Amino acid sequence: MIAIGSDHGGFELKEHIKKYLTEKGIEIKDFGTHSEQSVDYPDCARPVCEAVLKEECERGILICGTGIGISMAANKFKGIRAALCTNVFSAKMAKEHNNANIICLGGRVTGRELAFMIVDAFMDAEFQGGRHAERIKKIHEIEA
Ligand code: RB5
Repeated sequence: MIAIGSDHGGFELKEHIKKYLTEKGIEIKDFGTHSEQSVDYPDCARPVCEAVLKEECERGILICGTGIGISMAANKFKGIRAALCTNVFSAKMAKEHNNANIICLGGRVTGRELAFMIVDAFMDAEFQGGRHAERIKKIHEIEA
């Protein structure tokens, strides 16, 4: 199960990604928002982060206008490693090296087709562990 959420700036792209992944047979839990009415991105980040932290969902996707605000908010949750990605290589590395558990996108930045490729790269990648695990441990030491 994949958690997805957005604010109004990411709503349209969220709907497209939801449809794209659903058609691929991937189960999606949509935490909103459900319209283009203005909402605050930290409120939208929260339920997705909580679902990932509770392991109700394996990975999360968060979208705001730029992807910046929602990634900042998500990274305040202990245990969340949210990566704002605007290209396929970063999305792959975000999982392989950084073990990102949430990918963030900018609905006003990244076009739909590129966003699909970015999401695919993130979903298909696996964490490589080893030296990368040591580095993530250091992130969590800072967090503590
Ligand atoms: C909302 O207008 C916009 O500020 C938000 O979607 C996001 O881009 C913030 O980082």
